[in-house]
Amino acid sequence: MEKFIIQGNTRLVGEVEIIGAKNAAVAILPATLLINGITTLENVPNISDVKIICTILTALGAVVTWNNEHTVVVDTRHLNSANAPLEMTSKFRASYYLLGALLGRRGNAEVGLPGGCNLGARPIDQHIKGFEALGATIIDEQGKINASAKKLIGSPIYFDVVSVGATINLILASVLAEGTTVLNNVAKEPHIVDLANFLTSVGADIRGAGTDTIKINGVSELSGNHTYSIVPDQIETGTFMIAALASKGDILIKNCIYEHMDSLSAKIIEMGGKIENLGDSMRVSCDRELQATNIKTLPYPGFPTDLQPQIAVALSIANGTSIINENIWSSRFQYTSELNKMGAKITAQGTTAIIEGVNKLIGAPLYATDLRAGAALLIASIIADGSSELYNIHYIDRGYEHIEDKFRKLGAKIERIDKE
Ligand code: EPZ
Repeated sequence: MEKFIIQGNTRLVGEVEIIGAKNAAVAILPATLLINGITTLENVPNISDVKIICTILTALGAVVTWNNEHTVVVDTRHLNSANAPLEMTSKFRASYYLLGALLGRRGNAEVGLPGGCNLGARPIDQHIKGFEALGATIIDEQGKINASAKKLIGSPIYFDVVSVGATINLILASVLAEGTTVLNNVAKEPHIVDLANFLTSVGADIRGAGTDTIKINGVSELSGNHTYSIVPDQIETGTFMIAALASKGDILIKNCIYEHMDSLSAKIIEMGGKIENLGDSMRVSCDRELQATNIKTLPYPGFPTDLQPQIAVALSIANGTSIINENIWSSRFQYTSELNKMGAKITAQGTTAIIEGVNKLIGAPLYATDLRAGAALLIASIIADGSSELYNIHYIDRGYEHIEDKFRKLGAKIERIDKE
């Protein structure tokens, strides 16, 4: 079983380059299916979720070529299927974007149910509600979803809950629909705005991305032969900001967007960290004891749930007691039992965790329970006394590219053991 072996007691110092956003790339790659042409995407993260999506696009008849590690050319002029098989779609969450893209392009789709991190119930009722509002017929059978529509007709849609996935899926399904779609109570994450920017760049008529309401006027077609660069990853940026704080280090984070990090920046400053806005980069450092604070995860621009495990590591060694309220997912504290093996004092009950700060963490054998928990346990191992072994690191590879190389360049002592 693949694992990392980490020697602890490291203060992270140096610079790191942020890659393109996973949660934008896994939406924009399916969006290329809406174009009958060739699209070039730059700053694409070379991570396993993206590689799986590229395999599915190829299975649908697209020609996918990697020009270099971060540039992908997608030729969607000869699609020959609208069937994305379960054995591929179940490997990650974002496969359900194929429903919106194939419905929009071909008027039908058969997509295996998505997989993704185990964070508790992950329903897709809002996606289905939206597709049906546009006139699609949805049949949910034996682990796959069949969607079909003679014609998609624009419609007002009011989401019961703020959902990144449903917002993205309905943008995909409505850009080529007839008439106007108004999406209300939508998600406002940077990756939603990036998808809308991409689609606008190829001829879609979308207004309001980043606000509570998105208005889409259907167009007859989108144009090929465009190049688009994926937005820097907000969650990778936050992961390294927290690593600087927790290790009392000093990291220059390059190719990031300062304004996307406001809710985390405020917490880092509350806890005793320092942040310098340097335009397309930022410097995060900490030279003092960390102070406890409270965290409530919320849809953007609130504190991102995808940074909740990481900030918990810094809170576990802060002075005082902190409380985390996880308001997005019903089961996102599984990692706390791993941190408690390291000497942390965390009591997690339902969607609340109480963290009593301790002086230090002690290295231990650890098991990542999902992508962001894996990143959190990696940070914990880097700052702990002694050595740790971190298993299930395939979760981390889903969303972070060459993560051990990036941390090694900052001084961490990490070894990837491929086979035991
Ligand atoms: C996306 O998941 C991200 N994944 C998640 O990041 C992230 O945690 C989440 O958004 C919230 O920001 C990708 O973008 C691939 P949601 P998604 O739909 O779209 C409820 C990572 O680490 N809901 O915004 O699945 C749902 O149960 C991953 O990169 C419904 O009730 O999340 C949850 O409570 C982990 N019905 C809330 O909405 C629906 O139809 C937010 O879910 C859809 C969602």
